[in-house]
Amino acid sequence: MSENKATVIQNVRVVDPFCGVDSAGEEIWVQNGLIVEEPDAGADIERVDASGLWLVPRLIDMHVHFREPGQTWKETIESGSQAAAHGGMTAVAVMPNTVPVTDTPELVQWVKERGQSVGLVRVLPIGAVTVGSQGRELADLYRMLKQGAVAFSDDGIPVGSSGMMRAALSYARTLDVPVINHAEDRMLAPGASVHEGRAAHRMGLPGVPEAAEASMVWRDVMLAGLTRGQLHVAHVSAIESLSALVYARDHGYPVTAEAAPHHLILNDDALMEWGYNPVTKVNPPLRPEASRQALLQAVQQGLITVLASDHAPHHADDKARPYIDAPFGISGVETILGVLFTALIQPGLMSPLQGLGLMSAGPDRVLRLGYPGLMPGTPADFTLIDAEREWTVDPMRFYSQGKNTPLAGLRLRGQAVATMMGGRFTMREGEVLHAGISQIS
Ligand code: DOR
Repeated sequence: MSENKATVIQNVRVVDPFCGVDSAGEEIWVQNGLIVEEPDAGADIERVDASGLWLVPRLIDMHVHFREPGQTWKETIESGSQAAAHGGMTAVAVMPNTVPVTDTPELVQWVKERGQSVGLVRVLPIGAVTVGSQGRELADLYRMLKQGAVAFSDDGIPVGSSGMMRAALSYARTLDVPVINHAEDRMLAPGASVHEGRAAHRMGLPGVPEAAEASMVWRDVMLAGLTRGQLHVAHVSAIESLSALVYARDHGYPVTAEAAPHHLILNDDALMEWGYNPVTKVNPPLRPEASRQALLQAVQQGLITVLASDHAPHHADDKARPYIDAPFGISGVETILGVLFTALIQPGLMSPLQGLGLMSAGPDRVLRLGYPGLMPGTPADFTLIDAEREWTVDPMRFYSQGKNTPLAGLRLRGQAVATMMGGRFTMREGEVLHAGISQIS
């Protein structure tokens, strides 16, 4: 059943990192959920004047926690999808550290179907690497893949055993799918809450050194070389992790990596600014300025090809606990695009095509999704962005149930003003539109 309705976005600057196109004054037609060359004769046409706006296809945040099943007081697939659409996303990859852990084909299928029935954003499940993310027994990656998993990770917990990581990468190689590791040698940081540095010492908080991350990234890079399995390094924050990525690149190892927006825009001075408010508590922690600068450079130079929020919502009561007892994690899916513009595109560190590639073609390639860009016949997934709009981060306006972010009060420049997924507007002028029944193909 298809109604003869079409939408045209007019006078828009198309920034399409998939096709390498950056062109102003364009017109994009949408009909029956797809990009089309022109509408069918006699179609009822909705015209959207997008003068001054950019149109960017298939923005994806490939690292979010939507907490379902099991922890619906923190977030649900519905509230997370609303938050994602609000932030301008058309797709998200959701981490499996749910309760129970998403480690079976049935749970993968459940997460996918729940995302489809909410119908606001494409919810791509990531399956656990090991059963219960306990690190003892490999999960059934093959059957989870068949059910729609796009990658595997025990995120939140590192795959601690080198033998297990080797097995996971070897297995993943045969499936041509990435293993995403949260690199952290926990033996180096028992009970740590923050980066081991000046702020930690002044505040008397237990710290974790960058070596805890970097040593495991180096291990994983060696294992990617050994097995030729695809490794994706989650939320890189340490300088020496970057040296491991350079090594991997120079040796042709199958390794990709992502940065998180909070590591690009904040350093560990934020700890002292927020006092003992656990709003700054995130894992990996906020690092010193030298690390932030090195990370910006790595993104700019293409060593890191993905920006992903690590959206990790928690209930206010959990975050109200004393700093060392509060959980790690901040909400980020509604601010990531603003940070991308403010930290990278507006200052001219990256061109619009390169910068937006970090949230479209970059993750698409890592996850092997194969979206071809704005071509006739492809799903109409895109975001209209006002690159100049300045706004102040106000967590009370988040759709996410998690209101914790150290970005609260920050001025950002660049904001999504409309999101279209599968040919339907899911957000317009900051308001998420009810979806209800799935139209996702
Ligand atoms: O800060 C974090 N929170 N880092 C993680 O790796 C996990 C996440 C969570 O699930 O809350």
